[in-house]
Amino acid sequence: MNTRTPLIAGNWKMNKLTGAASAFAREFKTLVAGLMGVDVLICPPFTCLAALREEFRDTPVGLGGQNMFYEPDGAYTGEVSAEMLLDAGCAAVILGHSERREIIGETDEIVRRKTRLALQTGLRPIVCVGETLAVREAGRAAVHVRDQTESALAGLSGEEVRRVTVAYEPIWAIGTGRTATAADAQEICSLIRATIASLAGGGAAAEVRVLYGGSVKAANIAELLQAGDIDGALVGGASLQAAEFAELVRLARVRT
Ligand code: PGA
Repeated sequence: MNTRTPLIAGNWKMNKLTGAASAFAREFKTLVAGLMGVDVLICPPFTCLAALREEFRDTPVGLGGQNMFYEPDGAYTGEVSAEMLLDAGCAAVILGHSERREIIGETDEIVRRKTRLALQTGLRPIVCVGETLAVREAGRAAVHVRDQTESALAGLSGEEVRRVTVAYEPIWAIGTGRTATAADAQEICSLIRATIASLAGGGAAAEVRVLYGGSVKAANIAELLQAGDIDGALVGGASLQAAEFAELVRLARVRT
């Protein structure tokens, strides 16, 4: 039986100033007060972390970074370290988001180094994988996602792998309003779990949460979560409004 608690993680990307972030938090924490059976994480811009930490103090809403650097400290102008995220109140960090892979040029090797350092520092990495439309149309989505997953988790101990979350985000579904069908998302998420099993054993694979991301909204979350290997969602656009995101969180409890 699947005992994984669903996780709904909001990825605000490069949106919101501190005033808007605090206003969101005040509304959101009231809307989700007392909700059980679902874990909630918000990954705001770094500049909003302090304000949100204050607002979410004494609530179960967790905070995450959207990125970090692969070295622990030093002369890396403009970068943020894993320890800094921890110090700012983060429990998790999104790594290898497709916008960073595609726009900033992050490679599989960089994502692997970041994943290892996040774990060593005590942050839970949310490792993003996913194919472009061209890769999907060429029939290579499964191979591509398997390779990305294997690369990110290479060299980790079984105990480390258990603390990883993997987010399957088909690039053609991000911010486009075009969601993968629940069946397509399930197929790849189950493949990710099988890949984890081959790397770290069935016990680890049964524990790791696999999320789906790409135009997730209230209208499609329940169907996605009915699929056996989808344990939650990484949500961009629909995480920016408190009422909409709270509704998503509420709907995610159908799984329990
Ligand atoms: P979206 O973004 O929900 O706006 O499609 C998802 C993501 O990029 O994590």
